[in-house]
Amino acid sequence: MNRRAILAALPAFALLVCAACTSSPGAPRAGSEVVPPSAVVEFSVLYGQNCAGCHGANGEGGAAIALANPVFLAIADDTVIRRTAATGVPGTSMPAFAQSAGGMLTEKQIESLVRGIRSWAKPDALGIQIPPSYLAQGPGDPQRGADAYRTYCSSCHGPNGGGGSKASSIVDGSFLALVSDQLLRTIVIAGRPELGAPDWRGNVEGRPMSAQEISDVVAWLSSQRPTLPGRPYPIASTNPVNGGSR
Ligand code: HEC
Ligand code: HEC
Repeated sequence: MNRRAILAALPAFALLVCAACTSSPGAPRAGSEVVPPSAVVEFSVLYGQNCAGCHGANGEGGAAIALANPVFLAIADDTVIRRTAATGVPGTSMPAFAQSAGGMLTEKQIESLVRGIRSWAKPDALGIQIPPSYLAQGPGDPQRGADAYRTYCSSCHGPNGGGGSKASSIVDGSFLALVSDQLLRTIVIAGRPELGAPDWRGNVEGRPMSAQEISDVVAWLSSQRPTLPGRPYPIASTNPVNGGSR
């Protein structure tokens, strides 16, 4: 065959090949279309891709608190979850996810996350007990907080918070520098059941913490947060490395 004949035969050849195709050549097969990331609204996918790495699969906790903790879900309303997911917690490793705050997720996707996390709630888990409010109702007092600490926390975290036989340090500067007061409050109220940390009812048998005691103990912890996180030598002139020149 000469070149002309080959060229003339090509269309027929293409038809023959495509007789086996069910759709036109080049068109994606059914189900193989790539969904743009902003169009994904399925909760399990969104949660798995954006939250599970820190908050654990199905909200069971990991480096960050368990979002499926029934006490957490009893105190944190949709507004709290929506706002935190959208704008993050500045100064901590909790990122902002909303596009409006520089993240990747649309409002619709944030809403799907809020609804999905809410679906983990177990409204009956607390019985008739009403947990303290998510937000502090007033300021705490660090001095009174030291007393509350001795009463409710020292049995596990040691006499001064530096760690004991049952739990680690909660006054470590690098820990306090990375967490907000709200998170400390959330943990005191909701515990970290996945790690064996009790909620506000469980520190001392039969003696739940009062709202004021919770605010006070948080104020006591907060008062120990270093002012210059990441700098182990607060007074530069005593730094032997640079001879006190800065
Ligand atoms: C890189 C780790 C990381 C990722 C990813 C992450 N979080 Fe967080 N999250 C944190 C940390 C750390 C905190 C506590 C911040 C603080 O100190 O207040 C937090 C706090 C929260 C809180 C508030 C807890 C409280 O005290 O009230 C909510 C709600 C939350 N995250 C939801 C989400 C959702 C929803 C996603 C996914 C869209 C997500 N997080 C992804 C680390 C993460
Ligand atoms: C029955 C023992 C027990 C008591 C009482 C207790 N905790 Fe804990 N707590 C734990 C355990 C266990 C953990 C998780 C593991 C660890 O940090 O050692 C924990 C974790 C924490 C954390 C999180 C630390 C982190 O690294 O994320 C904070 C904050 C905390 N507790 C504060 C308190 C405060 C404040 C009190 C008193 C109001 C208290 N705990 C009472 C056992 C206890």
